[in-house]
Amino acid sequence: MDKFVIRGGNPLSGTVRVSGAKNSALPCMAAAILTEDEVILENVPQVRDIETERRLLVAMGAEVELGYGRAQHRTTISCRTLSDPEAKYEIVKTMRASSLVLGPLVARAGMARVAMPGGCAIGGRPIDLHIKGLEKMGAIIVQEHGYLEARADRLRGAHLVFDKITVTGTEDLLMAAVLAEGETLMENCAREPEVGDLAALLTAMGARIEGAGTSTIRVQGVPRLHGARHRIHPDRIEAGTFLVAGAITGGDLTVANCNPAHLGALIAKLEEAGARVDIPGPDTVRVRAGRLCAADISTKEYPGFPTDMQAQYMALATQAEGVSVIKENIFENRFMHVQELVRMGANIKVDGPSASVHGPARLSAAAVMCSDLRASASLVLAALVAEGESILDRVYHMDRGYERIEEKLRGAGAQIRRMGNIFTPKEE
Ligand code: EPU
Repeated sequence: MDKFVIRGGNPLSGTVRVSGAKNSALPCMAAAILTEDEVILENVPQVRDIETERRLLVAMGAEVELGYGRAQHRTTISCRTLSDPEAKYEIVKTMRASSLVLGPLVARAGMARVAMPGGCAIGGRPIDLHIKGLEKMGAIIVQEHGYLEARADRLRGAHLVFDKITVTGTEDLLMAAVLAEGETLMENCAREPEVGDLAALLTAMGARIEGAGTSTIRVQGVPRLHGARHRIHPDRIEAGTFLVAGAITGGDLTVANCNPAHLGALIAKLEEAGARVDIPGPDTVRVRAGRLCAADISTKEYPGFPTDMQAQYMALATQAEGVSVIKENIFENRFMHVQELVRMGANIKVDGPSASVHGPARLSAAAVMCSDLRASASLVLAALVAEGESILDRVYHMDRGYERIEEKLRGAGAQIRRMGNIFTPKEE
């Protein structure tokens, strides 16, 4: 298993470029199931979750070609034949987003067999709302042996009201609705930009969708979809992670190739916490050092403060003067990074869904363990300001969603190196 060795103390400066959004690319790859034609996706990040989804689609009989050379971020998917419409547990257990294939498979192939995802490091990850929605659209769903088996000759449009806002649930049912017979009205939908990105691809494929990106989406089903070419939008969480990196190291960092409009809640909070943030261009944000002071956050669905930035913000809070209260409202167990930050010298008290971070704390380098994707990012950020050389173990968590993060950070002046393991890595 690879490790990162990070020597703290260098302010980051210069420009760092953001890759395409993993959480857009994943549903867009699943959307290719909906047509027999080729779907070409540009700006697909080269991260492990994308490779996992490629394996998932290939196991179903799809052809997935990852571009190389100058076209290395282009992925061409052809789902002409879907010989085995199944998402096996071996793959689903490594990536919960695999359940995104449920809706498109039922819509296109009339049946799907998808392993139940179970829990994960950040908490329970139920898919009951995906199931409930598909049942309302006429699918018959049976749960057996850890698998869901869904069948429907043709899904029917329905009125769906989500009990709780769910990002992949909205995406999964949107993909089901585009091929359903008649109109589907979806209420209390997720408004995350990734839903809008998926809807843009589906529309290019011939779907009729209104309201994506708002809480009410209306879909007129069509009998079939055709191929399309679509560019994945920039990763707002990767961009946000770099903004925190610039602020925490007291640097002057320009984050390029991002969409500032998707970063509103984070930028406002960074400013409240004392960082200087400018938007010098339509796809650029610049962050500069300021005297960091405590500012509370409470995670919320978009456009609120993203749960996917909570761990990284906590690293920043350790360096801010005063007490920052961090409340996690989306996932029940998303404080796995706390104990590792405490081992590096942070002063954090957890009380249920809230953590009080007392700062500023002098962080000192330590050997720490990454437990999930965003927790890993938090530890990288802490290590960038810790005194001495930290060793981060299990960086495969980081590799699930950040493309070549160590090269990007090194380009901005960080001292970070990847160390391979002499033993063959086990599949986790
Ligand atoms: N929920 C249910 N029932 C469902 C679905 C969700 O109760 O059927 C609950 C969840 O347990 C959670 C809440 O609803 O408490 C929100 O979960 P959501 O379904 O929105 O999460 P997700 O779609 O599984 C996506 C991202 C996550 C991100 C969350 C929240 C993808 C592939 N994943 O997950 O990203 O944290 O939305 O914004 O889009 C990450 O990138 O590190 C990551 C975990």
